[in-house]
Amino acid sequence: MDSAFSHSLPLFSSFSSLFLFQVQSQNLVTDNVSVVEGETATISCRVKNNDDSVIQLLNPNRQTIYFKDVRPLKDARFQLVNFSDNELRVALSNVSLSDEGRYVCQLYTDPPQEAYADITVLIPPGNPIIESREDIVSEGNETEMTCTAMGSKPAATIRWMKGDKELQGKSKVEVTYDRMYTVTSLLRFTVTKEDDGVPVVCIVDHPAVKDFQAQKYLEVQYKPEVKIVVGFPQGLTREGENLELTCKAKGKPQPQQVNWVKVDDDVPSHAVITGTDLLIENLNKSYNGTYRCVASNSVGESYDDYILYVYDSRAGAGAQRAVDHAVIGGVVAVVVFAMLCLLIILGRYFARHKGTYFTHEAKGADDAADADTAIINAEGGHNNSDEKKEYYI
Ligand SMILES: *[C@@H]1O[C@H](CO)[C@@H](O)[C@H](O)[C@H]1NC(C)=O
Ligand SMILES: *[C@@H]1O[C@H](CO)[C@@H](O)[C@H](O)[C@H]1NC(C)=O
Ligand SMILES: *[C@@H]1O[C@H](CO)[C@@H](O)[C@H](O)[C@H]1NC(C)=O
Ligand SMILES: *[C@@H]1O[C@H](CO)[C@@H](O)[C@H](O)[C@H]1NC(C)=O
Ligand SMILES: *[C@@H]1O[C@H](CO)[C@@H](O)[C@H](O)[C@H]1NC(C)=O
Ligand SMILES: *[C@@H]1O[C@H](CO)[C@@H](O)[C@H](O)[C@H]1NC(C)=O
Repeated sequence: MDSAFSHSLPLFSSFSSLFLFQVQSQNLVTDNVSVVEGETATISCRVKNNDDSVIQLLNPNRQTIYFKDVRPLKDARFQLVNFSDNELRVALSNVSLSDEGRYVCQLYTDPPQEAYADITVLIPPGNPIIESREDIVSEGNETEMTCTAMGSKPAATIRWMKGDKELQGKSKVEVTYDRMYTVTSLLRFTVTKEDDGVPVVCIVDHPAVKDFQAQKYLEVQYKPEVKIVVGFPQGLTREGENLELTCKAKGKPQPQQVNWVKVDDDVPSHAVITGTDLLIENLNKSYNGTYRCVASNSVGESYDDYILYVYDSRAGAGAQRAVDHAVIGGVVAVVVFAMLCLLIILGRYFARHKGTYFTHEAKGADDAADADTAIINAEGGHNNSDEKKEYYI
């Protein structure tokens, strides 16, 4: 039966399962119906195991719409869809609010049976209207938006999305003179720079509509972001050299100009400022200090600092020499360490060899037939150790 309803209410198919309810009364059955105004509602009176009893359909005023397959009521919007022993199915086209009410399926059994089909008419809201309190918001300020879904039945619900993030609004429901509902949702949030260009979407949920929404793009002003970029030199700032700094500033609205200042001091008199660039030729130690680029727009002011530290003109070379010394020192340390290790190994080897020498002497003395042979043996051992020593050194 559900599928039959869906078929007759194609627009409404996705909601049908929500709004169709089975009414059980012995063996006579019908369903509640929700229908969008202007569309067609289908009422189905079904009988299980019918014993040829007559079925009729009454309107909420208990007038007979259909008696079997005969329509006594003059309203031609009622049409027979199916009639059999087991079902009386009637379609009501161009449904209006006045058609709402409790329809009655009646079965002429003894005692007679009734089943009720409540027709609920849904009225979709008007197109959602989204409004924002201000067109352009400054970062850090709170903004306020409202979304209105007018004249629906039942009341719609409103959700908000900022980009892909859901935000919580405050809804207010008003009942209009014609018993329709107007829902207004108020959204308040603090904007950030990142919100610039992000859509805020008001989504209206109502059983009679799908994908109902309105959106507005945020326009956010923000104070400049300032960054100093060193054009020259790439390495150390040495006496006598030139320094070139560029100030990059981006904001909304875009700052018209940037200002170069020196903190607690004056910019050297011969410094040249062209647009966003600061050029100081022939650096001198007295120019040491903090150079600041300041940019401002209607939202606020920001700056970036560059700390100048003028090195001796020889400082670079000195530093290079220092690096060389460090490298040489490292190499020397490694070599010395290696030699030390070698000496220790050699020392231990030599000590062991000396031990062997004495043993040999003793052995030689034991084994030899006479003292001479013993001395020769011992000398042989001694010579060996001399050879080793020479080899190692
Ligand atoms: C039909 O709707 C009425 C309210 O209009 C409700 O009381 C009744 O329970 C519904 N029937 C079913 C079967 O849900
Ligand atoms: C009408 O009812 C008969 C018997 O219940 C059924 O076979 C037929 O499919 C129905 N027709 C429609 C259009 O639903
Ligand atoms: C639908 O009903 C309304 C009144 O409720 C009427 O004004 C309109 O002409 C009808 N539309 C059709 C197509 O019958
Ligand atoms: C932002 O808020 C401040 C106060 O917090 C206000 O003075 C300023 O006018 C606001 N800016 C805008 C663009 O509304
Ligand atoms: C640096 O400036 C001081 C005075 O401000 C001057 O006496 C000195 O000669 C300058 N040094 C160089 C290398 O220009
Ligand atoms: C500037 O910095 C250099 C570091 O190289 C230092 O020797 C010099 O005294 C500083 N001069 C001033 C005026 O601070």
